Order: sequence, then structure tokens, then C-alpha cells
Amino acid sequence: MTIRRFARREMLFSAMTAATLAACPRSASAQPDVAVAALNNRARARGLFYGAAVSNDMLVKDPGTMARIAAECGMVVAESSFKWADLHPKSGQYDFTRSDALMDWAISHNIRVRGHTLVWHEGNPDWLAGALAEGGGAKLMREHIRAVAGRYAGRLAHWDVVNEAINPVDKQQHGLRATPWLKALGPSYIDIAFNAVAEADPAALRVLNEFGVDYALDWQEGRRVALLKLLGDMLKRGVPVQAVGLQAHLDASITQLDQTILSRFVNDITSMGLKVIVTELDVRDDRLPADIASRDIAVASHARAWLDAVLPNPAVLGVLSWGITDRRSWLNDIFPRPDGLPQRALPLDADLNRKRLWAALADSLDAAPGRVSAG
Ligand code: G3I
Repeated sequence: MTIRRFARREMLFSAMTAATLAACPRSASAQPDVAVAALNNRARARGLFYGAAVSNDMLVKDPGTMARIAAECGMVVAESSFKWADLHPKSGQYDFTRSDALMDWAISHNIRVRGHTLVWHEGNPDWLAGALAEGGGAKLMREHIRAVAGRYAGRLAHWDVVNEAINPVDKQQHGLRATPWLKALGPSYIDIAFNAVAEADPAALRVLNEFGVDYALDWQEGRRVALLKLLGDMLKRGVPVQAVGLQAHLDASITQLDQTILSRFVNDITSMGLKVIVTELDVRDDRLPADIASRDIAVASHARAWLDAVLPNPAVLGVLSWGITDRRSWLNDIFPRPDGLPQRALPLDADLNRKRLWAALADSLDAAPGRVSAG
């Protein structure tokens, strides 16, 4: 898509999201009729789901946000409480306090939970690197997965079994990321992880989760090629992977969003017989001018263009945003705006009002073709 066509499409999306937004009361105090207009209700009407990530602090200290998550979402994911650092703080010692708290909340609100994540190079306790270096990594991984996935067996919709496995710039075999797991176990660490989850919780959909595959940029094309190669090799080896998570950490300042390339990539994944989940949607605005109205328009139309290239594929199961309100986003920690203003990367503003991004999500869900709900 040329930049000119992209600009024209942005104007169209902006008008459409404005219309949707106008149809929904903006003030949180007006208690919008979320039962009808809620994002998950619209998603379910198309056989999809909508959900959001929940931080530990949000669950414990922000009942207002949790109430809106309960109204808008059909699924939640823990921003960090299912990671090794949170629930396996010392070797052989588990602390499920935070993960159980999210599970209990979700069950009490009849909302599904997806597990994130069992094998990653971040979110790990300090002791893990040394333990892997000493050897016995396969046993350690299997014990962790048996303990964690086994504890929630039958109660999770999905597991992000392995997170962010590829990174071609690391120059490792098959474009894999140079992680402590790869160093300790070689590429088979991925096979070990997926087979361990298949044994510990056969009911949870087994997902390989990845970022940086969204744009018509050379380095992202390299990542798409590496991911497709990895998936093909895994399937040839009989690794029980069932789905791919597209994290979708987008950036509204990037103009190389080519819907044809993106939808072809999603089709390349699903034509392998795999499902796709949009797992961590948010839209960086740190490189946009401060003006809120124009930021919101740019963020919404960017997300709409991305979602409209992905959601039409019938093997796409649903969308989760990485948080739901601008009160809390990891983006402000890692990519702070130069002017110090909070980013407006999520569907609700800091007062829990619906934004243009909420309407863009709603419009893209409404426009998606129906499918039999599978996940
Ligand atoms: O819970 C501890 C708290 O007890 C302690 O006082 C505090 C101060 O150090 O740290 C808290 O843990 C932090 C945790 O978030 C919970 O807030 C960790 O230090 C911090 O590293 C962790 O960051 C998370 C990061 O993943 C690493 O796990 C971010 O919130 C989370 O948004 C980010 O999410 C990742 C996805 O998992 C994978 N895709 C990319 C995405 C963004 O990086």
C-alpha cells in the first residue's frame, strides 16, 4: 500500500471510528451500555474473543479498571504473574499467590484466562541463568512446566509455551534468538517445552508467541521468514504447536504498514493448519506530536489498518490488548515520550473513557467475517 493510499484509508477509518464512538457514551460516569456495545460481545458475534492483560497492581489496587475489564473482556492474561520471576522465585520453590489471585478473579467473573509464558529469555528469576549453566536445563524446564501448567490444567484457554524464540540478528542456527535456553539445550528446547505442556495440560491451546512481524520493513521481513521456517521445521518434527501469537506491539509513526504483506503472512501461518491469536495489541505514539486529538486519530487508524489485514482470516481466534487503559502501559517504562506525556496506546483513556482506538477495535471486530468460535 503506498503512503498516499494509506493516508486516504486513514481518513476513512477516522470517520468510521468517530461514528462508532459517537454511538457510545464517552463519560465513564454515564455508565455506557457495555452489555450491548462491549468489545467482547462484538467479538463473540463474529466467533472471536476480546481480552486484555492485567497487571498485579491493577488486580489489587484498581477496582475501577477491573470493573471495565469485566465489562469489556472475555479473556484476560497476566502481564507478569505467570512468569518464572513471579511464581518460581527460588529453585524448586513456587509462589502461586498472584497467579491464583488472577485465576480466582477470572473464574468469579466467568472470564477465560490465557497463560503467559512458560519459556522466555526475560521475566526470569536471577537464579535461573546459573542453574541452566550448570546443566540439567531439560529437567528444570519439565519440572517447572509440570508444576505450573499442571496446577492450572483444564482451566486455561491457551499457553504461550515459548515466547520470542526468533531473532535473526543473533546469527544463530535457523534465525533463533540467542537465549539461555538455546545455549543450554540447543534448538530442541522448543520441542521439550511444547511436549511438556501437551502432557501437563492437554486442554490448553499451545502457542508460539512472537513480535516484530508487522511491517513492510526489511528486518521484519527477515523475522517473518525466520518464524515461518521455525514453524515449518517444528511441524515436520511433530512438535505439538497449535497456534501462533502475534503480539502486535504497533507504532503509529511507522508508515510501512502493508495490508497485503500482513494478510499474506497470516495466511502463510494458517495454511500450515495453525491458529492465530493477536496477543498483546497496543500502539506506540511516542514519536507523534503531543496533541491528543491527532494522536488518538493516528493510533486508531493505524490499529484499524493492522486489524483489518488480520481479523478476516477465519483461523484468527481473537484479540487481546496489552492492558486496557492508558493508566498503565509498559510503553511508558520502555519508550517514554520525550515530552513526558503518558502514551495513549490502549482502548480506554486514564479516566476509563472509550477512545478512538476502542472504536477502531469495535469497528474492525464488527467488520470481521463470522467463524465458528474455536478458542
Ligand atoms: O512484581 C515486582 C515487584 O514485587 C517489585 O517491587 C517491582 C520492582 O522491581 O518489580 C515487579 O516486577 C516487575 C513486573 O513487570 C511486574 O510489574 C518486573 O520488575 C518487570 O520486569 C516486569 O516487566 C514486565 C515485562 O514483560 C517483563 O516480564 C512488564 O510489566 C510487561 O508488560 C512485559 O510484557 C512483555 C510480554 O511479557 C512479552 N511481550 C513484550 C511485553 C512488553 O515487554
